[in-house]
Amino acid sequence: MFSKKKNIVILAAGKSTRMCSKIPKIFHNIGGKLILQHVVDTVLSLKRISSIYLVCNDQKEVLKKISFQNKIKIVLQKHQLGTGYALRKVINRFNDKSDVIVLYGDVPLISRETIEKLILSRSDNAISLLTANLKDPIGYGRIIRKNKEVIKIVEESEILFDEKDIKEVYSGMFVSNAYCLKKWLHAIHNQNSKKEYYLTDIVSLARKEGYKINTIHPKNSFEIQGINDPFQLMKVERFYQKYQAKKLLLSGLMISNISRFDLRGKIEYGKDVYIDNDVSIIGKVILGNDVRVGIGCILKNCKILDNSSVLPYSIIESSVISKNCVIGPFAHLRDGVILKERSKIGNFVEIKNTVFGSNSKARHLSYLGDSEIGSQVNIGAGVITCNYDGKKKFQTRIEDNVFVGSDCQLIAPITIQKNSTIGAGTTLTDDVKENELVTSRIQQKHIKNWRKNLDKQ
Ligand code: UD1
Ligand code: CA
Repeated sequence: MFSKKKNIVILAAGKSTRMCSKIPKIFHNIGGKLILQHVVDTVLSLKRISSIYLVCNDQKEVLKKISFQNKIKIVLQKHQLGTGYALRKVINRFNDKSDVIVLYGDVPLISRETIEKLILSRSDNAISLLTANLKDPIGYGRIIRKNKEVIKIVEESEILFDEKDIKEVYSGMFVSNAYCLKKWLHAIHNQNSKKEYYLTDIVSLARKEGYKINTIHPKNSFEIQGINDPFQLMKVERFYQKYQAKKLLLSGLMISNISRFDLRGKIEYGKDVYIDNDVSIIGKVILGNDVRVGIGCILKNCKILDNSSVLPYSIIESSVISKNCVIGPFAHLRDGVILKERSKIGNFVEIKNTVFGSNSKARHLSYLGDSEIGSQVNIGAGVITCNYDGKKKFQTRIEDNVFVGSDCQLIAPITIQKNSTIGAGTTLTDDVKENELVTSRIQQKHIKNWRKNLDKQ
């Protein structure tokens, strides 16, 4: 009887040639999270695992980009001579009696449940493979059976004409005893079209020694989709997005079209939240009850409380929106905005690092940066806080009940005290006291009977 110690190996040292990118495939994103991070997170969620190893070709990059709370040991594979060679780099670290579960770093959507099922499926004198029947098996190793028994795996590059139609593919994931693996890995060679040591060759060796090859399938076939090229990256992203959107829809988030919704992070939501087409959720987003998000909006790391609406094509980043606010269309809330209750931010208004008071409005064409704006304030069309002198940023303070007319420039640092009025077209350089009216434009002149000198033209 073999003991049940479990070791996991994630192979992630491949060349990524087919990705046609400077960035290795494991560092591309699915749902806003690195491909390898998906696998690592799933592995870290497993219970009763003795050790986890990651085989990679750039330790520094992995440490910089992937978080794994020191629970994973990294092993370097400098020469990319194939998956069999990669596993050789780590296999001698395992006790002969223990089990080794191999996962591939470029298969991100594998679920915890499927890995657990794979682990449980191993029996003595047998190895278990995770396989699936795919409509389009191209690119995968094919499972070759004789009298229903698995006898070997044939790689796509080595496949014979009559094997091309086989739909059962190998996921790259399997579980086997460590002692046997050491033996089989020693025996595999690289006499094939790619001159690589194929890990899949252990299957025919095991079979020849009388081992039984068990197969199990994942719940969803997209769990085994590998990412080798940009098309597969796009395909897995679409699978993932649609799957997530459907789950959200079924648990009460009203998404108008699950094929036109992107979640690149996490969303929390109340009741009767409605999300229109082409909305992207990035980072952590919290939406209260009855929030409505219009077509084409991007919400990133923000909180929007009950009954507020974001009208089409607005962008909200790192901001908090209180109850009953209206934002957009075409508004841009950059970092650090707090909108108080019932406030309104409209068309082509950019607002950054600003507290915007309750019942206040900035409905058209403004830039409000580094400011503190009280309640019941009206910001007219075209008002700009001039908060930057080329070197430093300065604050603008506008107290309650102030009316700022259209096309004003507020040159910070500046304070406008409560109940005051700034006439349209004013360039404000000095503070304004309570109840004052300030204008700075030149008086309008009317010159009678003025004619243009047409002869000069
Ligand atoms: C591999 C399988 C194929 C299977 C498919 C599933 C082999 C020989 N083939 O093919 O049967 O259907 O996965 O997705 O295993 N890697 C290393 N070191 C290397 C080479 C690869 O660590 O020298 C890693 C890669 O980073 C990747 C994984 O191993 O995470 C698989 O390698 P890849 O080259 O993508 O193999 P496939 O052609 O996809
Ligand atoms: Ca692959």
